[in-house]
Amino acid sequence: MGKALIIGAGGVASVVVHKCCQNSAVFDEICIASRTKSKCDALKDALQGKTATKIQTAQVDADKVDELVALIERFQPDIVIHVALPYQDLTIMDACLQTKTDYLDTANYEPLDTAKFEYKWQWAYREKFEQAGITAVLGCGFDPGVTGVFSAYAQKHYFDTIRQIDIVDANAGDHGYPFATNFNPEINIREVTANGSYFENGKFIETEPMSIKRVYNLPEIGPKDIYLLHHEEMESLAKNIKGIRKIRFWMTFSERYLTHLKVLENVGMTSIEPIEFEGRQIVPLQFLKAVLPDPASLGPRTKGKTNIGCIFQGEKDGKPVNYYVYNVCDHQECYREVGSQAISYTTGVPAMIGASMVLTGKWKKPGVFNVEEFDPDPFMDALNQFGLPWKESFHPDLID
Ligand SMILES: NC(=O)c1ccc[n+]([C@@H]2O[C@H](COP(=O)([O-])OP(=O)(O)OC[C@H]3O[C@@H](n4cnc5c(N)ncnc54)[C@H](OP(=O)(O)O)[C@@H]3O)[C@@H](O)[C@H]2O)c1
Repeated sequence: MGKALIIGAGGVASVVVHKCCQNSAVFDEICIASRTKSKCDALKDALQGKTATKIQTAQVDADKVDELVALIERFQPDIVIHVALPYQDLTIMDACLQTKTDYLDTANYEPLDTAKFEYKWQWAYREKFEQAGITAVLGCGFDPGVTGVFSAYAQKHYFDTIRQIDIVDANAGDHGYPFATNFNPEINIREVTANGSYFENGKFIETEPMSIKRVYNLPEIGPKDIYLLHHEEMESLAKNIKGIRKIRFWMTFSERYLTHLKVLENVGMTSIEPIEFEGRQIVPLQFLKAVLPDPASLGPRTKGKTNIGCIFQGEKDGKPVNYYVYNVCDHQECYREVGSQAISYTTGVPAMIGASMVLTGKWKKPGVFNVEEFDPDPFMDALNQFGLPWKESFHPDLID
C-alpha cells in the first residue's frame, strides 16, 4: 500500500521499524535513515527475511533540510515518520513541505538552547500544509498520542462535556541501575526538571518542579507516588476539548530517581548552558547523557509494568460521568516481542498506527493536526490489534 521513511534509529525507531514490518499489508517498503547509518543497518539485518516489508537504509543529518529533501526525492515515501529528536521537527516539516510528503512525529519542537516545548512553532505550519495538500500528525506516541486518542474517544462515546482530564503515566519497571532514564536522557531530564503546570479555567498555572504529589492506586500496578508535570498534550487538549476546565498530567517517580536527579541538578549536571572544559565548550546535560546507560540497553534488564491512562470527569445527558481508560504494558513481554522495553514500545506502536491511519486514508486531511482532531475509533481498534490493548472503568478512583 505505501512507503514510509523512518527518521531515527534509537529506542523508539526500533519499535516503529518492528511494527511496520508486522504490518506489511500497509507498509510495503520502509527506509530507515539516521545520523549513524550502522544502527539503521543493524535494524535491517535483524528483520530482513522475516517480513514482507522491503527495507532500505540511509544516512541523513536531519538538521539539514537539503539532505532530507534529497533523501525524500530519492526514496519517494508517502509519509515521513520522525522518531529522531524534537530538535529536528521543523527541518523535517520543511523538507516534507518542499516535497509534498505527509509527516508524523511523537514529540513537539523545542529549541536546543531553551528547555521549553510548545506547539506554536509547529502549529504555525498549518496554512502551508493545507495549501500543499499534505497531512502532519503531531505528537503520535503514547503521551502525547494515545492520551489524545483516548480523549477523543471519551468525548465521542461517553460525554456531552468533559470537564476534567487527569493523565496518569506510571512506570513500575525496574532496570536494576541506581539511575537511568527510559528514553533519551537529555529529553527526559529537560522534561522533568522544568517547572510543572496544569490547566484550569482557561489558563495554565505554573508550579515548582515536583512540588505537587499524590498517591494513586493504579490497576495492575498498585499505589504509586505521582507528581504533577507540565506535558505537551495539555496544550492541544485545552484547545481541542470543548468545555474543558481542568487538565493535569501526573507521572510516577521513585524516591531513588528523584534523589539522584536532585544531586545531579545541585551539582550543575542537568544544565543546558555550555561550559568551558579543557579548552572546549560542553553542555553538562549532554555529557551526563554520555555517561548514563543507553535507554536501548535497558530492554533485557527491565522487569515490571507500565500503566498509562486518562481519567475523565464530565456530564452526559445532564448526569455526571467518570471514565478511566488505560493501557498496561509489560516490559519483558515487549522485550520478547521486539527487543525493547515498554517505554519505547508504548511510543513506537502508536507512531506506526498513526502512520497507517494516514496511509490508509482514515486520517488523511490537509493541514497540521493533533491526534484528538481525528476519528479515534480505527486507532483504538488498532491499539488492540498491535499490542497495546486498553481497558476501561466507569468507577475510577479520582485524584483530589
Ligand atoms: N510521545 C511519547 O510518548 C514519547 C515517549 C518517549 C519518547 N518520545 C520521543 O521519541 C523520540 C525518540 O526517542 P528515543 O528514546 O528513541 O531517542 P534515542 O534513543 O536517543 O534515539 C534518537 C535517534 O535520533 C537520531 N538523531 C539524533 N539527531 C539526529 C539528526 N540530526 N539527524 C538524524 N538522526 C538524528 C539518533 O542518532 P544517533 O544514533 O546518531 O545518536 C538516534 O538514532 C524523541 O523525540 C522523544 O522525545 C515520545
